[in-house]
Amino acid sequence: LLNNSPPFLHINQDDVIDEICRNVIRDMDDYGVCVVDNFLGEERGRAVLGEVIAMHTKGVFRDGQLVSSRGRKGDLKTIRGDQITWIDGREKYCKNIGHLISQVDAVIMRANKMRNNGKLGQFTINGRTKAMVACYPGSGSHYVKHVDNPNRDGRCITSIYYLNINWDVKRNGGLLRIFPEGWREDKVADIEPLFDRLLFFWSDRRNPHEVQPAYATRYAITLWYLDAIEREEACRRYEKERNKTNSAPVLTTKQLQ
Ligand code: OGA
Ligand code: OGA
Ligand code: MN
Repeated sequence: LLNNSPPFLHINQDDVIDEICRNVIRDMDDYGVCVVDNFLGEERGRAVLGEVIAMHTKGVFRDGQLVSSRGRKGDLKTIRGDQITWIDGREKYCKNIGHLISQVDAVIMRANKMRNNGKLGQFTINGRTKAMVACYPGSGSHYVKHVDNPNRDGRCITSIYYLNINWDVKRNGGLLRIFPEGWREDKVADIEPLFDRLLFFWSDRRNPHEVQPAYATRYAITLWYLDAIEREEACRRYEKERNKTNSAPVLTTKQLQ
């Protein structure tokens, strides 16, 4: 019953963000993973979903980077089967996605400041990537176990907002399974990609994760928050290597204050 009622109806917006921030700080410290349900509320969540579906219908999604997986016997041929598009939130057909982004920014920046020395974990967050809107088109599309940021490219927190109404994991699959380093061997965090659910986790090697095969269209929006120092070091490295190789990750980023 409690889960179905609109959260914090009688509380002002700042108090809502503060409450969420305290949970984010506590869960990230304790587990490295934090789930916030009913983040925007039914109406705003549906408006975001509407914009995502409209973009999908228009055909702006492209395959996420496809890597062949020779040697993986019996598997589908891809590492990741999602289709993606990048959004900066100011596009006029993305007003509600823009609102979502500003709300997640508010949580992260406030949590970052709530710490007496202005840090969340060991990080000082001063920017983020654009938003990656992702669609797993069903048919068993998945993303094999991986780490978002294994090599210090600057991304410190992964934030994913899920958009799937009445998602039934038993029927539709599409579970996000996290294998947190340092937890007991057999302990995993299984996250269902439920409508209006916001998820945070450390982007580095502490959190290998996979998207299990999805058998229905599965939508999510991801933001990666950047640590100031790690990002600067990464940019300097990429700058040095640029003439030799083409492999530097292209992340369009935005400065936050
Ligand atoms: C990622 C990532 C970049 C891209 O999935 O971790 O950085 O262009 N993707 O798909
Ligand atoms: C990714 C990813 C997880 C999800 O895009 O890097 O791991 O639940 N996505 O969509
Ligand atoms: Mn990932």
